[in-house]
Amino acid sequence: MTGAAGGIGSATVRTLAAQGYRVIGFDVRDAAAAEDGVHVVGDVCEREELQGAVDLALERWGRLDAVVAAAAVIAGGQPLWETPDDQLQELWDVDVRGVWNTAAVAVPAMLAGPAPSGCRFVAVASAAASYGLFHLAGYNAAKHAVVGLVRGLAADLVSTGVTAVAVSPGSTNTLMLEATAELYGLSDPIAFASNQLLRRVLDPDEVAATIAFCCSVEGAALNGSVVNADGGFRP
Ligand SMILES: NC(=O)c1ccc[n+]([C@@H]2O[C@H](COP(=O)([O-])OP(=O)(O)OC[C@H]3O[C@@H](n4cnc5c(N)ncnc54)[C@H](O)[C@@H]3O)[C@@H](O)[C@H]2O)c1
Repeated sequence: MTGAAGGIGSATVRTLAAQGYRVIGFDVRDAAAAEDGVHVVGDVCEREELQGAVDLALERWGRLDAVVAAAAVIAGGQPLWETPDDQLQELWDVDVRGVWNTAAVAVPAMLAGPAPSGCRFVAVASAAASYGLFHLAGYNAAKHAVVGLVRGLAADLVSTGVTAVAVSPGSTNTLMLEATAELYGLSDPIAFASNQLLRRVLDPDEVAATIAFCCSVEGAALNGSVVNADGGFRP
């Protein structure tokens, strides 16, 4: 689970652990490990650090059943033509290549494992993967790329039993939503509630429940698709 110290990531770690998974959390930030789990501090931009986390799972438990790629950053606050190169580069490196790296180290372990047909790769995309959001062109581009990555991966996994799916949350009460509010000069992220037909922001546990279903054996039917966990997002 990458992004395990974050709002959605830590909720997903808790949800999966409660369902009996032994979870390796992975994040640039430290965090408490789940019961029977491990937390690894590492950077998704560094493939060998992710490989170390996969190796640890195989060493401890002999198998890897599900991987969730949730680590990401948000940046923006200006139109595309004023976006600094380094901002676009960071979004690309963390939000796209980070997910790519995660799949690149996890999928071979799943294919070589005892039960590939139960194995799931889940990438956390965003409502920004379906819509163009004001002053977030770089984040939009990165999240659309995550969906493309998942679709390509699902095609490459044809007939292996391993599946790939993207989950696209709407506005969810986390530090990233606070950072997004700051980009827009909003004092309270609750303002994003009006973008969702639920007329409230989501709780990370709600998004985690959807991600956990995608990790399940029954989640196979979602292969290659984008699951919108967004409360009816309409920008
Ligand atoms: N919160 C929302 O409204 C929302 C909406 C749509 C999509 N998302 C997506 O959900 C996912 C989780 O976001 P969140 O809202 O929990 O945000 P968050 O900021 O709470 O969590 C993101 C986590 O990713 C980690 N991270 C950042 N760069 C990293 C790196 N290079 N290597 C390893 N870890 C790194 C951070 O330390 C953080 O713990 C992200 O992919 C985000 O884009 C969030």
